[in-house]
Amino acid sequence: MSSYFLTTAIDYANGDPHLGHAYEKIGADAIARYRRLRGDDVHFLVGMDEHGQKVEQTAQAQGIAPQALVDTLSDHFQAMWKRLGISYDQFMRTTDAQHKAGVRALIERIFERNPTDFYEKAYEGWYCVGCESFKQDAEIVDGKCVLHPTRTLEWVEERNWFFRLSRYTDFLRARLIDHPETLQPDSRRNEMLALLDRGLEDVSASRSRLAWGIPFPKPLSSGETQTTYVWFEALPNYLTATGFPDGAWASRWPAQLHIVGKDITRFHSMIWPAMLEAAGLPLPERVWGHGFVLLGGERFSKSAGVRLDLNEAIDRFGPDAFRYFLLREVPFDADGSFSWERFEDRYNSDLANAWGNLASRVISMVERYCEGIVPSGARTDVDTRDAAELLEYHEAMDGTRGFLLHEALRIVWQSVARGNEYVDRQAPWKLAKDPAQRAELETTLASLVRQLARQAVLVAPFMPDKAQELWTQLGATRPLANQRFHMLATLDVTGWQVRKGESLFPKEKPAA
Ligand code: MSP
Repeated sequence: MSSYFLTTAIDYANGDPHLGHAYEKIGADAIARYRRLRGDDVHFLVGMDEHGQKVEQTAQAQGIAPQALVDTLSDHFQAMWKRLGISYDQFMRTTDAQHKAGVRALIERIFERNPTDFYEKAYEGWYCVGCESFKQDAEIVDGKCVLHPTRTLEWVEERNWFFRLSRYTDFLRARLIDHPETLQPDSRRNEMLALLDRGLEDVSASRSRLAWGIPFPKPLSSGETQTTYVWFEALPNYLTATGFPDGAWASRWPAQLHIVGKDITRFHSMIWPAMLEAAGLPLPERVWGHGFVLLGGERFSKSAGVRLDLNEAIDRFGPDAFRYFLLREVPFDADGSFSWERFEDRYNSDLANAWGNLASRVISMVERYCEGIVPSGARTDVDTRDAAELLEYHEAMDGTRGFLLHEALRIVWQSVARGNEYVDRQAPWKLAKDPAQRAELETTLASLVRQLARQAVLVAPFMPDKAQELWTQLGATRPLANQRFHMLATLDVTGWQVRKGESLFPKEKPAA
């Protein structure tokens, strides 16, 4: 059994979960569930980024202690992930004592192994609290950070510890060239290669005047103790989550996959590997930089007032339909938009009319013509064509061609369309009237139940509850979670007793 440790970004604890956070967690969850169905030993980590100026300022504005703020928000995030069926194995919080000790150990290790990688420097520049980072001139337009145009940049003059990121330029370039799979999709990798060509600047590793953070393990030569720069402690969460530096951390590290948004790919593909290399630790195998969900073509933000109430969107058709919609509609390698019209269209056409209808037709016919017991029947064209596309599904899910979750869903829905066409073509209701066609009727229905059962397994990473519901209605005898993809080719549904339940995706009632 191979182990698969995957992570998402840890979310800033300065507000409630929003659509962008949800999109990333849902995508990562589909990959985690897919890996479990392959039989991997999966460890899926999510969590909260609880230190830094942004959190400190939000707490101040609300007149509460930062710890109280992060405690409340961490509950909100966990409740939301539960509602969305995010099957994480571990929830990391950067205010945990274990994380603080791990960060300290990592920084001390860099000091031991590469003492000149840290140096003191007086620095001045524009700081964006939204990004929690210093901004170069090229990232500032009209005096504002291009990513956070509603925030005011802060002019900062400090003497800090710096990390000699520039020293790792050639190392990072060589890695991206020799091992292109370490950063995908290619669009992100090209961006990073261009950045490397312009040259990397050293980054601050500590901050003064920031109370809400982890003390930097070494004071400045003046004796001043500083706080660890928030990114410098946030990135190591993936490592400290394994228990580093104690216990069996090395049995889990390195991570197989970090899933993060395109705005922070740079931190994960430049600073993070450089830090690990400096500490003499193994590097994560892959980083995937997904795109952004937009609302009506725009980036949403609290301050700009472009927003969507996550609970309202989930209430519309339930968590699984919401998961399906986001992953089908917003390509995992690019940007895409959420819109209520598209959501309703997809719900009605893909879920209610296509998949839900196929399931309900087939189950009803097995009840009507075969007393609810799935007959035996040889493989048909439906089985062969599904099998021919299975490889494409896996390549879209396992990283071979990247993590193209929308592609995997497209492939399954091709099979759904074929199923509905096959029903229409075979017209089992006609076959049922002619006793001479009994064998053909049984072959048809057996083939359709087999197809639905396979679809349930392939859809399970995306809509775990609906897949299980269908699986149960088909009368499967073993739990869906015990299925493995390699069993699909020989799946035998003979003798399953179907049980028609509630409609999987109830049709919308026409407006009165
Ligand atoms: N705390 C940092 C990450 C530290 S990881 C060591 C952070 N937090 S965040 O709350 O701003 O964002 C968390 C994740 O959500 C990031 O991967 C970010 O790219 C993603 N998204 C935020 N808005 C998004 C969209 N509108 N669409 C998709 N994902 C986006 O950055």
